[in-house]
Amino acid sequence: MRKREIHIVGNWKMNQTLHEISQFFVEMTKMKMELKCKAWIAPQAIHIPILKEIAFTTGAIQIGAQNCCEHDSGAFTGEISPLALADMGVEFVIIGHSERRTIYKEDNELLNKKVLKALEHNLKVIYCVGETLDEREANLTHDILEKQLSVGLANIPKQKAHLLMIAYEPVWAIGTGKTASAEQAEEGHAFIRSHLPHSSDETIILYGGSVKPDNIEALLRKANIDGALVGGASLKANDFRQLCTVASIVM
Ligand code: 13P
Repeated sequence: MRKREIHIVGNWKMNQTLHEISQFFVEMTKMKMELKCKAWIAPQAIHIPILKEIAFTTGAIQIGAQNCCEHDSGAFTGEISPLALADMGVEFVIIGHSERRTIYKEDNELLNKKVLKALEHNLKVIYCVGETLDEREANLTHDILEKQLSVGLANIPKQKAHLLMIAYEPVWAIGTGKTASAEQAEEGHAFIRSHLPHSSDETIILYGGSVKPDNIEALLRKANIDGALVGGASLKANDFRQLCTVASIVM
């Protein structure tokens, strides 16, 4: 098996109040777990500073952003500056989540600009790809993934390739309770690995889409699945802890 470090990344999307955040960390601290995997959380942008402070105190969790702008600064009302993220010591940024692609109409060309800009600031990038149900049923999964990878990851300098991570999130599996089978996910991951711009055994490829404590083990046992990008199940400390516990055992 490839030498790999398993990453469990919570994408909190537009969820969690301050009270819920403090509950989450109170419960996490009570559980006193020994983390062998990497545990990361991407909260809403407005909560990044507070999470960074808590994470600094507890030591175990790294904090990232769910999106960033393709520009550093200027007249872009409401956007999140990658320069500001780097300046604040944010570890990573998620780019190209299917909700950004569909709701906010971000296409592969725009996402490429965002990826390059984030890498310029040495942010780790979790670039998301995945097909819709219609695309899968029309046998277009590989075409879609190929396009998302070739356009979205164009012109990445080789010396920045170590900062790049991928999340394979079949759109039909996100928030639906319908996970891809471990075999379907592994097939997608292997395809993605063979289509990376700088072919790399070391690139971390996460699976996302209805990952839960009771289905994560089968996914992580696959050779090309290096962790999970988790929505719903990352919001509750107990579930997040269980995900990390399984990841620590599988490693
Ligand atoms: P769920 O885990 O809620 O299906 O969300 C997956 C996701 O979109 C993570 O980015």
